[in-house]
Amino acid sequence: MSEQSESDRHQHKNALAVSLIEANNLYRSYRNIAAVDGISFRVETGETYGLLGPNGAGKTTTMRMLSGLTPVDSGTLRVAGIDVVQDSRSVREIMGVVTQHDGLDAGLTVYQNLFLYGFLIGLSKSSAQKRTHEVLEFFNLRDRSKANVYELSGGMKRRLAIARSMMSSPTVIVLDEPSTGLDPQSRNRVWEELAILKESGVTVVLSTHYMEEAATLCDRLSIMDRGKILDEGTPDQMILRYAPKEVAQIRVAPGSLRRVRDYLNKHEIPFREVGALLSVTGDRGANPDISELNGITGVKASYRAGNLEDVFLTLTGRELRDG
Ligand SMILES: Nc1ncnc2c1ncn2[C@@H]1O[C@H](COP(=O)(O)OP(=O)(O)O)[C@@H](O)[C@H]1O
Ligand SMILES: [Mg+2]
Repeated sequence: MSEQSESDRHQHKNALAVSLIEANNLYRSYRNIAAVDGISFRVETGETYGLLGPNGAGKTTTMRMLSGLTPVDSGTLRVAGIDVVQDSRSVREIMGVVTQHDGLDAGLTVYQNLFLYGFLIGLSKSSAQKRTHEVLEFFNLRDRSKANVYELSGGMKRRLAIARSMMSSPTVIVLDEPSTGLDPQSRNRVWEELAILKESGVTVVLSTHYMEEAATLCDRLSIMDRGKILDEGTPDQMILRYAPKEVAQIRVAPGSLRRVRDYLNKHEIPFREVGALLSVTGDRGANPDISELNGITGVKASYRAGNLEDVFLTLTGRELRDG
């Protein structure tokens, strides 16, 4: 094929471009309370898209609607051309789903969990065997294939749940809080797996309340709170839009805490206490003047760049982790 016609074809494809996932004005309520309150978003093929929000934001409800597990009250939802509202069954044939609670069979081995799942989703015995071997290889689980699930660490179980969702060779995978409850090392492993999946062309939609997870994995994300999407963009765009350039972090020895609080209050410098840290943001993102604090014994001040946690705080007035 000549270069010219290749480029024509490309343009033609773009002109017809439809997003892989198109959610318009999705709504779902429980006893008159809107769990998801009219959200719209699109996910393009090959993208990793995140919903970032605290507990109760409506993430799980959204993920469940996407995968056809929770009915949609109103709005439209299409995944790869499938109308999920009309035909929630078909969507599961092209989608891998990892729920927050892995749903693995603890009495079976790693191999058996994968194989039986393949069998359940309709693969023939030989296809299920073949696919199990491919998936074990891909996720580097081959040497654990005979291990019982109850013997596995939390991180290993999560990796197995992700592996299992790939048994159907899905083009899109939906993960609800993939690394919640994992230690930092296991979390990193899960992030690596997801990055490898993305590289292999799989479209990933995930929900999380960890800003590091969203910042590390997502091409684009939406900030979700109380059933609504407050804004969306790339992590960098969101930080540029809503986070201060720098935030001062002040570590204070307990004995000096009162003096520091008094100082900040007297100078009307707004601050928040996050664990043992005082976090201070200057006016309209300017660096706050905390030079005088350095004279107090037991005080150490440093600056960090604005992050998605700050974005959430700006948009909602609350901490992401508070929920
Ligand atoms: N099955 C349910 N029955 C009643 N209320 C629910 C149910 N599922 C979710 N909710 C409510 O909907 C809201 C959003 O919940 P959820 O989608 O689980 O949020 P998230 O996953 O972000 O924590 C919460 O207020 C929650 O209590
Ligand atoms: Mg949830």
